[in-house]
Amino acid sequence: MHSFGYRANALLTFSLTILALICAMASLSDNLNSPSPTATVQILNVNRFQKKSSGDDEVGLTLDISADLQSLFTWNTKQVFVFLAAEYSTPRNSLNQVSLWDGIIPLKEDAKFSTKTKNKYRFIDQGSNLRGRDFNMTLHWHVMPKTGKMFADKLVLPGFRLPESYR
Ligand SMILES: *[C@@H]1O[C@H](CO)[C@@H](O)[C@H](O)[C@H]1NC(C)=O
Repeated sequence: MHSFGYRANALLTFSLTILALICAMASLSDNLNSPSPTATVQILNVNRFQKKSSGDDEVGLTLDISADLQSLFTWNTKQVFVFLAAEYSTPRNSLNQVSLWDGIIPLKEDAKFSTKTKNKYRFIDQGSNLRGRDFNMTLHWHVMPKTGKMFADKLVLPGFRLPESYR
């Protein structure tokens, strides 16, 4: 004769085992999904390009950001954090990374988008190195799952160049 407490305990243990198994399968099936996001970024306009009184270059851009990140979404995806950065090297720093824009995508339906926007965060160099500077745009994403580990990756969009002179 099993007491009620014994049976409740057994049931709870069984439920937790099943739950753990489902979580493991969820994050496993996430790992099997090999996403193939695409993105294009265009500089529509250089709105301003100046050396500030501090001596640091600042550039203001209007960007056209288009991306299809729908393949990042599985049934285990809670949301995706995405940000666009300018990456370039200068004599002082081998890698400068300046975040220009970011967003949170809660739904797969919103993961295919196209937006025309000014840089949300200021594009300022640590110095006066931006004239004629070649740089890459990188689109980074952090996928936050409902269960399991967060993962991050990026796309590199090379071939950008800033104007030769201030304006
Ligand atoms: C820009 O991207 C190209 C091609 O992926 C790479 O070779 C280069 O090192 C990158 N430049 C910077 C500054 O990250």
